[in-house]
Amino acid sequence: MSSIDHPFLADPRKKLLIDGQWVDAQSGRSFESRNPATGALLATIAEGDAADIDRAVAAARRAFESGPWPRFTPAERQAVLLRLADLLEARGESFARLDTLDMGAPIRRTRGAIGLLTGVLRYFAGLARAIEGSTPQPSMPDMFVATVKEPVGVCGAVIPWNGPLWASVLKVGPVLATGCTLVLKPAEDASLSPLMFGELCLEAGVPPGVINIVPGFGGTAGAALAAHLDVDKMSFTGSDATGRKIVQASAGNLKRLSLELGGKSPHIIFADADIAAAAPAAAIAAFGNSGQVCSAGTRLFVERAIAEEFAAEVARAAAAMRIGNGIEEDTDLGPLVSARQLARVVGYLDSAREEGAAAVCGGKQLTGDPWDAGFFVPPTVLTDVGDDMKVVREEVFGPVLSVLPFDTMEEVIGRANATPFGLGAGVWTREIGKAHAMGKALRAGSVWVNCYNTLDPAVPAGGYKASGYGREYGPNHLEEHLQTKSLWIRTA
Ligand code: NAI
Ligand code: MG
Repeated sequence: MSSIDHPFLADPRKKLLIDGQWVDAQSGRSFESRNPATGALLATIAEGDAADIDRAVAAARRAFESGPWPRFTPAERQAVLLRLADLLEARGESFARLDTLDMGAPIRRTRGAIGLLTGVLRYFAGLARAIEGSTPQPSMPDMFVATVKEPVGVCGAVIPWNGPLWASVLKVGPVLATGCTLVLKPAEDASLSPLMFGELCLEAGVPPGVINIVPGFGGTAGAALAAHLDVDKMSFTGSDATGRKIVQASAGNLKRLSLELGGKSPHIIFADADIAAAAPAAAIAAFGNSGQVCSAGTRLFVERAIAEEFAAEVARAAAAMRIGNGIEEDTDLGPLVSARQLARVVGYLDSAREEGAAAVCGGKQLTGDPWDAGFFVPPTVLTDVGDDMKVVREEVFGPVLSVLPFDTMEEVIGRANATPFGLGAGVWTREIGKAHAMGKALRAGSVWVNCYNTLDPAVPAGGYKASGYGREYGPNHLEEHLQTKSLWIRTA
């Protein structure tokens, strides 16, 4: 173990953040964090379980009911969020490097996210002062009615490893804006930046117990949080399989849920599209973050006349992507996050080959020196694939793209929507009518025309169908952290 060139790792023993204190797990247990590009040990992290979750939820409850936090005015909550954004901006490079070390994403990607994330905090800082109810007018002469917005209470959040800082900011922002409190359980594969963000919250003046961070495993800490009877709302980002468990676990107290789950997003290229722009965009949509993106455009539907040429263009764009250790400035694609994720992705590549798919590029794990030290899979473009193959139906979460030719608009709409998921969808065309028709027909929370995966703090993103419940970003995200109370006052 060493200080691996990062100030947060100078002390490589990391603790839980509960009630404003850094504490060991009650069990005394810990687990390791390693760099997926090199295998290097980065830190040992206190391993929270049900007992620690209990302690953290109790702290969050106290902070919600009786600490200084309930007395913060909207202006004071706004000030905290603005300080947090300033601190994040000032330490952006340090956060970017930590995420790159911990989960492998290229430094240009983790650095590039900081602007959006400070924007998210500032957006919620604005919304903190724009929370308002209404005065509906009932058909009764002697009644005054006001709807009052109140914080939903103690929130729980379980986040994945594919954007650890990103997910932390998205969970913390609306909690602070509305006056809720939070117990956050990071992913076991990427807990470091969530912990460092916890430190930042304290520095920004968030009172003790408002933001608690409890790393640990999903089946223990995560499950305990999801089932906890004193948690009012749970927010989860991750796989649909775990999402289903969160739904079941919510039944005990019928807590409110927000779920941001996976996808198998269609990316549709019409023959009239600007091919020179669409091809590299299709490669980035599928291969960015080595495919470990919930809205990755992994089903590439291409109008038949240009399908072969377009697949070759995408493969060229893929071949130009530099694979390597994410900490190097020129790396485009880093490793997969873990041995487990590598095994999953290789399993999908094997199943594609067995079902008759051909790889235009990639197709196999990279081996030899220096690849063996980490978990590297090159961008893979598959042709000769059918809509019912496993690799085309299921979320791979690796750099694997399937090219699916189509003939008519009606046909591609049907095929694009024939999935249990509905997170994102992309369309490339120069025809305005086609753009509108597709925008209307595609059943997904975000439809991107002549762009892909664009995000903004003010624009809602989330899933139709099995991609989840609710929206993040935008006013909807705030609303999910609020209760509406109807106050009836007889006036005579
Ligand atoms: P996962 O959904 O199991 O893990 C995400 C988070 O859930 C982690 O913090 C984990 O500790 C927690 N968790 C696991 N089991 C839990 C339980 N029973 N109760 C409460 N929390 C629990 O995903 P995993 O295993 O890391 O990856 C497997 C696959 O999931 C990936 O290959 C990918 O297809 C998908 N995935 C999708 C993501 C997305 O954003 N759409 C993010 C991460 C994974
Ligand atoms: Mg790691």
